[in-house]
Amino acid sequence: MCGIVGAVAQRNVQGILLEGLKRLEYRGYDSAGMAIRADDGRLQRCRALGKVAALEDKLAAAPLAGHSGIAHTRWATHGRPSEANAHPHQSGERLAVVHNGIIENHEALRDELEAVGYSFASETDTEVVAHLLEREARQGDLLGAVQRVLARLDGAYALGVIHADEPDVVIGARKGSPLVVGVGIEEAFLASDPLALLRVTDRFIYLEEGDVVRLAAGGEITILDAAGTPVTREIQTFEHGDGAASKGEYRHFMLKEIHEQPTVIAAALEGRLGDRNVLVESFGPEAETLFAGVRQIHLVACGTSYHAGLVARYWLERYAGVPVQVEVASEYRYRRVVVPEGTLFVTLSQSGETADTLAALRFARDRDYLGSLAICNVPGSSLVRESDLTLMTRAGPEIGVASTKAFTTQLTALMLLTLALGRLRGQDPDEQAGLVEALRGLPGLVRRVLSLDPAIEALSTAFGEKHHALFLGRGAHFPIALEGALKLKEISYIHAEAYPAGELKHGPLALVDSEMPVISVAPNDELLDKLKSNLQEVRARGGELFVFADAEVGLAEEEGVHVLRLPHVHEALAPILYTLPLQLLSYHVAVLKGTDVDQPRNLAKSVTVE
Ligand code: F6R
Repeated sequence: MCGIVGAVAQRNVQGILLEGLKRLEYRGYDSAGMAIRADDGRLQRCRALGKVAALEDKLAAAPLAGHSGIAHTRWATHGRPSEANAHPHQSGERLAVVHNGIIENHEALRDELEAVGYSFASETDTEVVAHLLEREARQGDLLGAVQRVLARLDGAYALGVIHADEPDVVIGARKGSPLVVGVGIEEAFLASDPLALLRVTDRFIYLEEGDVVRLAAGGEITILDAAGTPVTREIQTFEHGDGAASKGEYRHFMLKEIHEQPTVIAAALEGRLGDRNVLVESFGPEAETLFAGVRQIHLVACGTSYHAGLVARYWLERYAGVPVQVEVASEYRYRRVVVPEGTLFVTLSQSGETADTLAALRFARDRDYLGSLAICNVPGSSLVRESDLTLMTRAGPEIGVASTKAFTTQLTALMLLTLALGRLRGQDPDEQAGLVEALRGLPGLVRRVLSLDPAIEALSTAFGEKHHALFLGRGAHFPIALEGALKLKEISYIHAEAYPAGELKHGPLALVDSEMPVISVAPNDELLDKLKSNLQEVRARGGELFVFADAEVGLAEEEGVHVLRLPHVHEALAPILYTLPLQLLSYHVAVLKGTDVDQPRNLAKSVTVE
């Protein structure tokens, strides 16, 4: 998704902006650009289609220089990927703007501007903002111009603006798209994601909805709230450190993040487990009172986070006895939802900025929910700030677009939620103690599964020439099959589908032949025998089976049946453990096929538009 960087610094800002753009590459984009105000008052701009490296080459040939500037990576929404559509957009030679999000009323504004003589150089919605700002800036200062223009915009945005007549000034604004201010030493920065600025600062102000900020020389930062009143916002120190932004010894961020899972799962559990139970206070001081009233849960998320929610339904119903409804956010937000008394609204999101999930939370706020809980990986994100309760997943920054460690830490957090609610709803204390013990052992088991990587890599060679794959699971492992299929399709571009294994004979079995690899997870649970029969149905049709099975399960390796044995794990935690071989399999298949593993085509890390 689009990324913004801005800077007002004592040094030339070109290097700061370029480094920021590189750090935003993981979000997914199709073009990049920057604009810098030169000390003689000229605006200089450079844009390139494709990777930031292409922009860097252009800048090497014709460098820009100045003390204030803005930069952008674009992910096309209005208008195809092209240099003309890349940001920054200018109005004449005096004003440049970068924009994340969507201006919904851009067509009406475009007509209005064309009628008074503005001509458009791009197909984007953003260009209307540039022209509106240029017109308003003729009436006074840039900050006032931005405020007046914002009042005319419908939709969601984060903006960065510079003007030739305002030396060393960058204006930022946010509504519906994230934007942070980086606080430097006599320097100030702007970005859509703090990761972009970690080379220059670890101190951030997370702007609130409707805020407008003016950055000026000497590190001056002025923030006005939605009503135009000057406000002071807290400066927060970034917790995760900068190591997360580099691949270290790994070939891809995705592989690094897969291998971080023992550490981050341990981090997700740290301080949240008592001797024999989960500490309900982990969810905040008000959690115990709020949880005591929970009779039902609505769980809303997108993509991989939605799959985590589907697993949690099995857990919450079985161990806490709470009925759960799980729904993708883009559907939930447009439905006439019935909210039974005592319903807790739970959102799951790695980024905390996913537009649909955020909109669902806002929609839910006007309904009769008991309260809201966000399970999220990004402190200070919109979802976290707007929810009653939060539980941070502590996965650290996830750079690979395909979510891995964010998913398994979400599952870990959801097991904590299950046990917290179970505890308040009379779960057998011995059962809870057994699960707490199993959770403590989980990072060690995860490490053991990761050591099977070479064997999984060997299996991946069978997928090099395949065009389709089928994933099967039963019970809480059906969502794991869904997640396995999503991982494979998003990074290797192999078409993959997932089914509950019992559904096979109701349709998908027709697809099974020697060209259709079938991947299944077979933990040692009460559905194992049924799953084995389903796998026989596949073998009988010539399908090649790849089974990830519990070490104690009697599944024999034979022609057309590849079995990889995983260490035995508590039945409830098996969905977390069985995710790992599927992540590794997708990774190796993608490497084999030579795709862009960390930035798969057409995808963005943080989906901040609807
Ligand atoms: C897939 C993936 C996406 C995200 C989805 C929601 O690997 O990462 O499906 O899970 O876009 O994102 P968050 O969790 O940030 O709300």
